[in-house]
Amino acid sequence: MRVEANVERGTAVTIIVDGAAVPAFAGETVATAMLASERLDFRADTAGQPRGLYCNMGTCSECLVTLVASGRRVRACLTEVQDGLEVATRG
Ligand code: FES
Repeated sequence: MRVEANVERGTAVTIIVDGAAVPAFAGETVATAMLASERLDFRADTAGQPRGLYCNMGTCSECLVTLVASGRRVRACLTEVQDGLEVATRG
C-alpha cells in the first residue's frame, strides 16, 4: 500500500500491466505501481517460477518487465511510469 499521510503525489496516470489497467502517480516507478496494486510477480525464471522485487535499487534485475511498445526489458524499479505505458511480466 502507499503511504497516505503527508505525501504530495504527482498527477494520476494509468499504466497497463499484462493488459490490465493499474493506477499510478507521475514520479512513481513501475515497481511502485505494481506493488501498490498487489502485483507481486514481475517475471518468471527459466524454470517458470515467479520472481519479484528484491533490491528495489537497480542492482539485482529480479524486477525485469517488458515494455510492450519496444520489446525492451527494463528494471521496473528504475522505470518511471508514463500515462498509458504498457508492460508485460512475461515475454
Ligand atoms: S528489484 Fe533489483 S533491480 Fe529492480
